[in-house]
Amino acid sequence: MDKLIITGGVRLTGEVAISGAKNAALPILCAALLTKEPLTLSNVPALNDIGTMLKLLAQMGVKMEREGDRVTLDASDLHNPVAPYELVKTMRASILVLGPLVARCGEAKVSLPGGCAIGARPVDQHIKGLTAMGAEVTVEHGYVHARATRLKGARLFTDMVTVTGTENLMMAACLGAGETVIENAAREPEVVDLAQCLNAMGARIAGAGTDVIRIQGVDALHGATHRIMPDRIETGTFLCAAAATGGEVRLTGTSAGYLDAVVDKLMDAGCEITSEKLPGIETLMIQAPARLKAVSIRTAPYPAFPTDMQAQFMAINAVAEGTAVMRETIFENRFMHAVELIRLGADIRIDGNTAFVTGRPALQGATVMATDLRASASLVIAGLVAEGETHIERIYHLDRGYEHIERKLTVLGANIRREKA
Ligand code: UD1
Repeated sequence: MDKLIITGGVRLTGEVAISGAKNAALPILCAALLTKEPLTLSNVPALNDIGTMLKLLAQMGVKMEREGDRVTLDASDLHNPVAPYELVKTMRASILVLGPLVARCGEAKVSLPGGCAIGARPVDQHIKGLTAMGAEVTVEHGYVHARATRLKGARLFTDMVTVTGTENLMMAACLGAGETVIENAAREPEVVDLAQCLNAMGARIAGAGTDVIRIQGVDALHGATHRIMPDRIETGTFLCAAAATGGEVRLTGTSAGYLDAVVDKLMDAGCEITSEKLPGIETLMIQAPARLKAVSIRTAPYPAFPTDMQAQFMAINAVAEGTAVMRETIFENRFMHAVELIRLGADIRIDGNTAFVTGRPALQGATVMATDLRASASLVIAGLVAEGETHIERIYHLDRGYEHIERKLTVLGANIRREKA
């Protein structure tokens, strides 16, 4: 397995381009299942999760062409509405094919994703919503099997805010008969990006970005072109990397608009963040102090502080001045990076869903293990500020969600290299 070797102590400076959002691209690729006509997407990031999703769609009969960051999908001949365990187990977001497949083919068989490192992550809300829309859903032999001649509009209420749940039900409702209302809907910007793409395909969705989404079902969707929004978590991760190293970095092709909670906390930590809108491009500038102040956070659904940025903030708090209280409210087991950060010398105490992090003036390089996608990012940030060499093993997690991370960090002056297995 590949590993990353980082020699810490370099202050990051320079400019780097932010890629398209993984969590927007994944559902939008699945939206292609809803139409017989081609869907062309640009700003699609080159990530392993995107490769997995394309493989999944291909084995259902979707034809595709990929050139640079552009992907054209043609689902005119869908002959196999099945998502097998072998692919789903590597990426939970595969569940996003469920809604579109039942809506378009009248049937879908999708392997249950099972748990993952950060928690149990059930899909009961996806199933509850489809059932309310008239689908007959059974769970047998590890597969969710859903059937419906045509889904019908319904009033849906999810027990908790679920991002992919909202996306699955919104896509399914596009081809349903009548109006569907999703209450307690996720307000994440990626939900809005998906709704914009679906509306460009002829869907009638209103309210995306609020907690009540209304969808008027239509008989068919048509082809469209759509540009995937910038990745706000990649943006936040680079902001944290710059902040931790006392750096000065400009990020292009992204926007502060999706990142208020993160930007606020980095400013509380002592950073200066400014954005600039030039014709056709938006940039974000961060200038960090020599030492950050510790910042407490509590994760919650958008627009509050994102759980996908919690690990990166733990890394910056580990070297900040003072003590931070970090509360994780979305996933029950999302502190695995803490024990690895402790191996680098961090002072962290965990009590249930709360971490108490007291900043140390310095961390020391060591060998650590990446345990999930965002945990890996926090170890990279810690490695950038640790004294000496940090070896990060199991970086396949990083490749799932960060495009060319070591190349981008090298551009900013970091001393980081990949050692092939
Ligand atoms: C999405 C993001 C992920 C992010 C998470 C929370 C994608 C591809 N992934 O994941 O990066 O960390 O949102 O912002 O967009 N839950 C249930 N039953 C369900 C659905 C969810 O109990 O049917 C629970 C989950 O276990 C979790 C919480 O609800 O505790 C929120 O999960 P959810 O928003 O669904 O996360 P994902 O959509 O899987």
